[in-house]
Amino acid sequence: MGVVRLASSTSASSMVAIVAVLGLVLNLAVVCNGGITSTFVRTIKYSADMPLDSDVFQVPPGHNAPQQVHITQGDHQGNAVIVSWITADEPGYSGVIYWSADSKNQTAVGVVTTYTFYNYTSGYIHHCTIGNLSFNTTYYYVIGIGNTERQFWFTTPPEVGPDVPYTFGLIGDLGQTFDSNRTLTHYELNPLKGQTVLYLGDLSYANDYPYHDNVRWDTWGRFTERSAAYQPWIWSAGNHEIDFAPELGETIPFKPYTHRYYVPYNASGSTAPFWYSIKRASAYIIVLASYSAYGPSTPQYQWLETELPKVNRSETPWLIVIMHCPWYNSYYSHYMEGEGMRVTFEPWFVKYKVDIVFNGHVHAYERSERVSNVAYNVVNANCTPVKDQSAPVYVTVGDGGNLEGLSTVMTEPQPDYSLFREASFGHGIFDIKNRTHAYFSWHRNQDGYAVEADSAWLFNRHYYPVDDSKSIRA
Ligand SMILES: [Fe+2]
Repeated sequence: MGVVRLASSTSASSMVAIVAVLGLVLNLAVVCNGGITSTFVRTIKYSADMPLDSDVFQVPPGHNAPQQVHITQGDHQGNAVIVSWITADEPGYSGVIYWSADSKNQTAVGVVTTYTFYNYTSGYIHHCTIGNLSFNTTYYYVIGIGNTERQFWFTTPPEVGPDVPYTFGLIGDLGQTFDSNRTLTHYELNPLKGQTVLYLGDLSYANDYPYHDNVRWDTWGRFTERSAAYQPWIWSAGNHEIDFAPELGETIPFKPYTHRYYVPYNASGSTAPFWYSIKRASAYIIVLASYSAYGPSTPQYQWLETELPKVNRSETPWLIVIMHCPWYNSYYSHYMEGEGMRVTFEPWFVKYKVDIVFNGHVHAYERSERVSNVAYNVVNANCTPVKDQSAPVYVTVGDGGNLEGLSTVMTEPQPDYSLFREASFGHGIFDIKNRTHAYFSWHRNQDGYAVEADSAWLFNRHYYPVDDSKSIRA
């Protein structure tokens, strides 16, 4: 009996141990799984670029007609616009005639530039800044004066202020495939009307072509004109903008990009067009450069060090950073590529309570918890990101739809910091309501439809710094 009792008792304790171990394993599975890995994955096919004779690439009719028209903010606070366009036949006139319902015609005259890249010669690239605009006003503008005139319009943002609602679109890594066209169309048709695009780098993907065929820069400019001529696109540079090709004799990085896309970097005291800031409505937007030097003593480091203390949150409560390469990314693609910059700048992001960081580069979508990894110093082994209510939310929207296809392979288990991830093409919307609340949503391209596949309320880190990680998710 004693033996039996002993055996029975051993068996019972074994069972307890097994259950305990199983429980631990199950718990670990839950603990390790940070957030949601969406089960929706699009057909994994590399999308072809649209052919050169596609309607979206059409050259506007008429002699020397302006093409590839795009606008961006032209000063620091939002009452200037840079108008850019290209004429193909001759330089033409770099002037812009503009007016509003309340003002007479005015004229501003800009500059014209060209560049060569290997065997390609650009058209005549015009950039004209029109300033002293009234806030919250629709302006019409005409370019191509003296040849073929074309007319467009834009609306200036409201004057900077803490409770000014404003809606930003987020597009990254767009390229010029059929999927790119779907993404842009879904953005245009989104009922949450984006008023300005924060562009997250990697524009045309021309460098994926033999000899970096710059004709694909021109087609991209014509493709995006239908949005970028009417609302500002705030530019950040990605790796596909570098165009460094010593084998072709092209050794000046960013040559096509810097000739085609002017930004108001001087207005924020920057010394290069790759990092700068603007204020727009209730947002302070800092553009950083993943592909420019950022270590101590570099121009970008020095600029950001003096820039962050200047942000007045009682004027612009929402502090947004955009840059191409993510710091928190749980996809295999570009895993840890942003680590150098994270180590350099993350303590400042936490100190100055950046609200949200938008990235591209990884061709998928991901949204993080508010986490930081600032305790890690290489030798102390504290290398796991921890929840931090002073830290930003990191969002990757590198899923514009370019010819390189989706990044579908994810690290497993999903890290704690990753709240939601999905490998689909789409775009984002950041909808600021007031000084405390903003609504972020990500809209996947689901066949013919845009589907809000992820969303969250964000609480401002300056005015309402409470935990927002359990806000809603669609
Ligand atoms: Fe990239």
